[in-house]
Order: sequence, then structure tokens, then C-alpha cells
Amino acid sequence: MLASIYIYNEYRGYTSLDRVLEAVRARCPDQDEFIAAVVKHREDEAKHYHMFRRWFERQGRMPLKVDRTCGHIDHFIEAVFGCPIEELDTAGIVADGDRFEKLCRVIMLTEQRGVAQVEILLRNSHVRSDPVMKRIFTIVEKDEPDHWMPYHAWLTANGRVTARWRERWADYWIHKSLMLVKLPAIFVSRNAPRLERWPHEDEAVYAKAA
Ligand SMILES: [Fe+2]
Ligand SMILES: [Fe+2]
Repeated sequence: MLASIYIYNEYRGYTSLDRVLEAVRARCPDQDEFIAAVVKHREDEAKHYHMFRRWFERQGRMPLKVDRTCGHIDHFIEAVFGCPIEELDTAGIVADGDRFEKLCRVIMLTEQRGVAQVEILLRNSHVRSDPVMKRIFTIVEKDEPDHWMPYHAWLTANGRVTARWRERWADYWIHKSLMLVKLPAIFVSRNAPRLERWPHEDEAVYAKAA
């Protein structure tokens, strides 16, 4: 179940970063370092996705069909921008410094949340008892700090606020509700359906989830 949620979030992460990359390229065309950092971030998330995918393949099972209600980034984008990720107006964000700033903060906070979560999981006895899972999270832990830093760097270099209380609260509550309500709910629905295809082969698989 944990791996099903991770694979969803990693998948969601790298596919959303395509849009972020588009925004960064348009907004900061001459900031090669920032662009390169976002490209690396996207590659890392895609790599994480494939690590979890191989873990499922070894088990001979497909991930549970979770949906956007399990995605931290989905909730966060909704809370801050008031629309789902697919409807984010990339051009509008590029044109508006304040919205671009918001986007950077959302990614930064989401990634910082990710780092903290991985550290907790690496101490978890279930995770530690599965050597492959433990190795995956160790790699994720090593990659993660790189992820929030470029956005933080951009915010500081441009004299922007690195976090607003409202966003920190949103981040905190999303996390709490995922942990306390959503996870146990999936856990009790034992016959939760599984994916039939991998999302990188068929991007509609999660969309079809109820
Ligand atoms: Fe990741
Ligand atoms: Fe990440």
C-alpha cells in the first residue's frame, strides 16, 4: 500500500515537472543552472517511479489503484491555486511573478515534506525488513535534498518569501489528513482494485480510477 502511494506520487511528480520545466524555461530562459536543476529533479522522480515499478514487478503484483486524493501535490496545488494540476495555467504563471513564486514554494514545501517522510520511513521496521524497499528509500533520501534547493535558491535570489504561513498550514493539514484518514481507509478496503497497466505506458490508468 505504501509503495502504491509512493509510485503514484513519483509518477505525478515527474509528469507535473514537465509543466514546471516549461514554466521555468519561459520565465528564466537565461538561468541555465536553475533549468538544469529542474531537469535533474524530473529525472530523479522518474527514476524513483521506475524503482518502485521494479519492486512491484519482483513481487508479481501491480500497484493499488489509488487516485489523486492520495497525492500530496494534488491537494496542495488545489489548495493554493484552486484547480487540479492538469488545469494549471502555465502561461499565466509564467507571466505573473507572484504566481510563479507560489509555484516554487509549493514544490519546495512538498519536497521538504518528502525528505522528512523518507527519514521516518527509513526508521520504520516494515520498510527495514524489506531489503529492496530499504535500498529504494535510501536512494530517494540521497536524491531528495537536491529537489527543494533550486526553488529555494530562486526565491531567495529574487527577494521572494520562502514560505507563507497559510501554505505551511495547508501542507501540514494535507499531510495529516493523508496519514490519518486516507491511508487507513485504503488499508481497510482490502479488495481495492489494482492497476492493469503502468501509468508510463498508459497515462489514463490513474484517471480511470474512481
Ligand atoms: Fe521522489
Ligand atoms: Fe522529490
